[in-house]
Amino acid sequence: MLEIYKLGEDVLTEPTTKVTEFDSALKMLVDAMFETMDEAEGVGLAAPQVGVSKRIFVVDTRRGEDERIAFINPEILETSPDLVHYEEGCLSIPGVYHDVLRPFHIVIHAQDVNGKAFTLKADGLLSRVIQHENDHLYGKLFIDRLDQDEHDLMVRLFERKNRNKGKKKRLGR
Ligand code: NI
Repeated sequence: MLEIYKLGEDVLTEPTTKVTEFDSALKMLVDAMFETMDEAEGVGLAAPQVGVSKRIFVVDTRRGEDERIAFINPEILETSPDLVHYEEGCLSIPGVYHDVLRPFHIVIHAQDVNGKAFTLKADGLLSRVIQHENDHLYGKLFIDRLDQDEHDLMVRLFERKNRNKGKKKRLGR
């Protein structure tokens, strides 16, 4: 299990760098990310959330049904003009959920853990999770896509819900 960094930690807002070595260390990291995501009952997890500023995220929208995909150096090539609302949450902002407006369809290009390139078309939940995780690689959280008032409300809700959980670090201002 890797530590999941929470709202207020710098690594969540820092830029990520490209993966250049497709070695055993990368495979171990990706395996650990899948394990950590499963343990936390999430459907997606990006490397900055485990303190690694690299262009990596994993998704599993049908938990346990062999729908696991690792995206290395992803790039969203196309987004559809049709936008849809969907309620999002984030393992880095536990206890906080809000509707976010995003494109329904996407086309994404990425590499797998062996460096093999692939292109994927996605819609529905898979598209949504991919867009959310891809944002993490740009230091962007789903609450950053809300208007300022809603954003600030979500931050206060997070602070209130996580205040009494024995966190060593206090949320920076
Ligand atoms: Ni997230």
